[in-house]
Amino acid sequence: MYIKEIELYNFRNYSTEKISFDKKVNIFLGNNAQGKTNLLEGIYLNAFGKSFKNIKDKELIHFDQDYCKIKTIISKSEEDEKVEILINKEGRKEIKREGVKIRRYSELLEEYFIIIFSPEDLKIVKEEPEKRRKFINRELCQIRKGYLADLNNYNRVLKQRNTYLKEYLIDNNVLDIWDRELADYGSRIIKKRKEFIEMLSPICSDINERITGGKESLEIKYEANVYFEDNPEEEFYKLLVSKREEDKKFRTTGRGPHKDDIKISSNGIDLRKFGSQGQQRTTALSLKLSEKEIIERETGEKPVLLLDDVLSELDNERQAYLINNLGDNQLFVTTTDIIEEVASKLPAGKIFKINNGHVE
Ligand SMILES: Nc1ncnc2c1ncn2[C@@H]1O[C@H](COP(=O)(O)OP(=O)(O)OP(=O)(O)O)[C@@H](O)[C@H]1O
Ligand SMILES: [Mg+2]
Repeated sequence: MYIKEIELYNFRNYSTEKISFDKKVNIFLGNNAQGKTNLLEGIYLNAFGKSFKNIKDKELIHFDQDYCKIKTIISKSEEDEKVEILINKEGRKEIKREGVKIRRYSELLEEYFIIIFSPEDLKIVKEEPEKRRKFINRELCQIRKGYLADLNNYNRVLKQRNTYLKEYLIDNNVLDIWDRELADYGSRIIKKRKEFIEMLSPICSDINERITGGKESLEIKYEANVYFEDNPEEEFYKLLVSKREEDKKFRTTGRGPHKDDIKISSNGIDLRKFGSQGQQRTTALSLKLSEKEIIERETGEKPVLLLDDVLSELDNERQAYLINNLGDNQLFVTTTDIIEEVASKLPAGKIFKINNGHVE
């Protein structure tokens, strides 16, 4: 798939802007604070219905306005599809696909594939587990039907249970209802995550070996705090029951996939704690490239890739590897100064100059 055209109204620092993109390479060139990342954010919204930043929707609206709109034309199997997103100050959001209102985000997530790669992602190996869980979640939402619903349901029940645990008197019969539900959604989440990591590990290890010239042997494992063998749902339920007193004491749910992590090691060394900066960055790069490979393998679609300021963060060798391995995906690259050498290696495309919310 590729993004053909985008129209922005009152989106971030843009007033009215309509841009037609190249099928292959699009470079957004501009000084700091001109709107490069904002433009990527607008593109990203098409696949996810929300920003990659942890923000409220209404922050996407231009400071002086009451609403914003993003319209996109996406080409999928040579057919044009339209996505339209409207957000107003009251926090109302309406998303239409081909003129029809969508009811669930999954209607976008399972149709359009976009991967964003920002300097933040280069830190995924060394940062807190939450970042790594987000990585798995984002990927699974795209490739596994029903995952997003399980995740939303799990989080809803978890929140209710945690609120209840803060009350003065706690009735085990009430907890029991939530424990059953948590075990149901949670065990499905853990199973899908485990499968995903098993698929990811060899792909990522392979890529990492190619980048490092075979010096490192990477291994990725799902680190669950719920163990089960035959009957995941029942075993998770039993664990919740056995931890009730502890949960009451700490007033929060201590076990479950909301506490899980992925362990990333190289030659047996835990890279999260002991990796050098270079090792951590290379591994992060391999993880991202695996994401692309898995989406292609599982969906048959070529995801659109958004590279926000990453090229300048990588050394020549890794830059070259990245560029040579982006295949024929549509690329959006932001940069403050055109790196001649990099540009010359990229397939021909369009260069846009971004200046204070205007695109040339
Ligand atoms: N809701 C908004 N309304 C108006 N302007 C906004 C809004 N949100 C962000 N901006 C402004 O948009 C400008 C451009 O931000 P953006 O992150 O796109 O810059 P950039 O070109 O990526 O810069 P850098 O090279 O530093 O990453 C910023 O100055 C920011 O303050
Ligand atoms: Mg930026």
